[in-house]
Amino acid sequence: MKYLLLTLSILLPITVKALYHQPKVVIFSSIQNLHSTLADLDIDIQDLYDNELESIDFDASCLKPSTFEVLKEAEILITEPKILANILEHDPDILQKLRWCQSTFAGVDAIFKSNALKAWKDSKQRDAPFPFIVTRISGCFGQPIAEWVIGRIISFERNFKLMDNNQVKRKWGENLGVLKSYRNLSDLTLVILGGCGDIGSCIAKVAKLGFAMKVIAYTKHSRIDAPTGVDECTTDLSHALKSADYLVSVLPSTPETRGLLSRSV
Ligand SMILES: *[C@@H]1O[C@H](CO)[C@@H](O)[C@H](O)[C@H]1NC(C)=O
Repeated sequence: MKYLLLTLSILLPITVKALYHQPKVVIFSSIQNLHSTLADLDIDIQDLYDNELESIDFDASCLKPSTFEVLKEAEILITEPKILANILEHDPDILQKLRWCQSTFAGVDAIFKSNALKAWKDSKQRDAPFPFIVTRISGCFGQPIAEWVIGRIISFERNFKLMDNNQVKRKWGENLGVLKSYRNLSDLTLVILGGCGDIGSCIAKVAKLGFAMKVIAYTKHSRIDAPTGVDECTTDLSHALKSADYLVSVLPSTPETRGLLSRSV
């Protein structure tokens, strides 16, 4: 959220100034209070927050007529990729004036996974360029994801689930053999697919500097310099997989990465 605000507070005023007119800026996001936190920017922003946006089954075919009218005028839109994809799939012409969409997420695969692009192209002449740019947010997801990854690894190695179950059943001293036979993280190897990116290198740093794990990063292109926390960068997937005690994938979902971990590797 902090990063999203930072990005917006830098980019919005520049963009708005660069245009010859006051563009219509619209927020259509499940993140509440986005509008009030941008109030300092002194830009006219219309917030279409609606608690229905928080539903995982957001459906653009149920847009309120008033929302529909505002979206039709939007030139800059701040929204989730899934919502954008859903609107485009439903009716590509709704966003006819859109020039820039700022995603509130890091991953924008929802747009590519859906039929949104196809719907857009079919509704225009063949190969018409997408008439607006989509920018994503990055730089703020590494720490929470690293905490999640390390949390899961420790929980697994130390058998927290069994401990919790024993506690609930008031079984003190049960399964001691299993509970005592844990491995030190410093003896384990963590392989991160996409380990040199923003999120991957943050996980590597926490695993290496915090827990002395061996960290191998799998990347698409070979690199000479490994980021802090990465012991080894490799483009050899089977080598990486063979070395792994734990495997984390933070690769973006693209046609190239989909199915990467199929049975054949
Ligand atoms: C874990 O590390 C400690 C301290 O270095 C060591 O005494 C212990 O033997 C290690 N445990 C295993 C299972 O290797």
